[in-house]
Amino acid sequence: MARPIIEIDNVIKRFGDFTAVDGVSIDVKEGEIFGLLGPNGAGKTTLINLILGLLSITSGKITIDNLDIKHNKDKVKRLIGMMTQETVVESELTARENLEVFAQLYHVNKSELNGRVEDSLKDADLIDFADKKAGTFSGGMKRRLELVKSMVHKPKIIILDEPTTGLDIQNRNHLWEEIKRLSENGITTILTTQYLEEADFLCNRIAIIDHGKIKAIGTASELKMMVGTGDVVEIISKPDNVEKVAKLLKSLKLSPIVKSEKVSAPMGSDSVKMLNNITTALQKNKIAIISINMHMPTLDDVFLKLTGNQLRDTTGENVSARSQIMMRR
Ligand SMILES: Nc1ncnc2c1ncn2[C@@H]1O[C@H](COP(=O)(O)OP(=O)(O)O)[C@@H](O)[C@H]1O
Ligand SMILES: [Mg+2]
Repeated sequence: MARPIIEIDNVIKRFGDFTAVDGVSIDVKEGEIFGLLGPNGAGKTTLINLILGLLSITSGKITIDNLDIKHNKDKVKRLIGMMTQETVVESELTARENLEVFAQLYHVNKSELNGRVEDSLKDADLIDFADKKAGTFSGGMKRRLELVKSMVHKPKIIILDEPTTGLDIQNRNHLWEEIKRLSENGITTILTTQYLEEADFLCNRIAIIDHGKIKAIGTASELKMMVGTGDVVEIISKPDNVEKVAKLLKSLKLSPIVKSEKVSAPMGSDSVKMLNNITTALQKNKIAIISINMHMPTLDDVFLKLTGNQLRDTTGENVSARSQIMMRR
């Protein structure tokens, strides 16, 4: 098993009375893509800024490549590449100049610099735009430039803060491919995301984070197993009927979770039979519903189970297999 390259040990970060990171412990292994999945305000960026040494730790310890970051700021800085949440390419500089400036900042050898910049432009698919000002680029092109920029000094670790937030699907996919490629070359990646699909598709392991606390850590499949056995049924009804639906599921020995107008529950090993039982029971008890569907457990189900809230996926796309049975009345 790969050794841990980033060790986060019971880290707390307070801003005044407010605790933004609340006792987080994570070991990230060399070469893995590790995802921090959580909603806005969960503490993802704060945790990343602690790893980068941009914020001081209130208590706890972070070690990178066996170096305590507190006492090895410069060494650690050279080990990490960082892509921030906001776009920070220099608009007035060309793509090539952006890369050159950054390479110099990180003391890339003069003899290697030109080759490194050329390779980066190729990796980002920007060779034809090398001498155009970055300010004229689309959002996706800027993000691609930023990713290779953060890699120009050949760090062992790359940290990506919401790399694809706001990108369209085509640009997102392009960036995903690029992140996978880096990982195949042995780069360790930490990325934060609010997108379930992103965590599911990219990450070897995922930490679900909410209100500064880690709720669970594991592979996507391990996390989904926490939801329970079988497919998840999801029933939407008018507010008046929500409690009735939940009660009916309980009478069928299921464990429903209620979130506003939605009731969901894993259906056990014979999900199809159970779904049949549920629809029959709804009809028999004359409980009107708006819709019923079943799906394989998603990370959203995991998040709901762990936090009582939904991590709404705003990409509007669903990668996971879904079977839908709509019943309208
Ligand atoms: N410098 C700061 N001073 C006070 N509160 C902060 C500061 N930075 C972040 N916070 C608070 O900490 C919480 C976590 O923020 P952040 O780490 O940016 O979350 P995320 O990146 O998951 O959206 C938020 O409630 C935010 O308002
Ligand atoms: Mg953030």
